[in-house]
Amino acid sequence: MPPRFEPGLSRIALRRGDITTEASADAIVNAANRSLLGGGGVDGAIHRAAGPALLAECRLLGGCDTGDAKITGAGRLPVQHVIHTVGPVWRGGGHGEARLLESCYRRSVEVGAAAGCGVLAFPAISCGVYGYPLDAAARVAVEALAAALTLHVRVREARFWLFSEEAYAAFDRAVKELGATS
Ligand code: APR
Repeated sequence: MPPRFEPGLSRIALRRGDITTEASADAIVNAANRSLLGGGGVDGAIHRAAGPALLAECRLLGGCDTGDAKITGAGRLPVQHVIHTVGPVWRGGGHGEARLLESCYRRSVEVGAAAGCGVLAFPAISCGVYGYPLDAAARVAVEALAAALTLHVRVREARFWLFSEEAYAAFDRAVKELGATS
């Protein structure tokens, strides 16, 4: 039985700060909504930094289902692509939220790998407006990303960009916990 999380886990890195400052990744992942027409939070920051060309391209995509991911150019951002994924809204945990969040990470890696991306940058999907509790989201995100990177060896590295100390600590705990059990 091949390992489910290694070596993918060893290719996950944590960064503290604004994901739009990421300049060496091939793609930045956006925590979008189903319209793909922009919003607040990281979605707003990415669209502001990318400029109007990103929204113009998103308009052609016809939206995106929760748990799915779609790829565009990156406008003025210093990366090749933006991968737009739509996380679940937290409704207490009994509505398939974990499965949908896992799908966001898996589909983003699949779409990035298909586009030849070697390095992906992720925000903490669903942990803001969509209300997903940080520790639970971090565990789902790290496991999902480690498993996806194990399958997609052409994606050399995935970086989580955490916008608060609290988020950074939650993801750091999740990486250490998974490493201890793998
Ligand atoms: N860089 C990195 N992370 C950021 C940034 C940024 N510039 N801005 C916000 N974040 C963090 C938030 O602190 C949170 O931890 O991204 C995480 C995700 O929060 P949101 O951006 O609110 O995304 P989400 O919870 O998935 O909700 C998506 O919000 O902005 C709207 O259009 C979006 O409707 C969609 C919803």
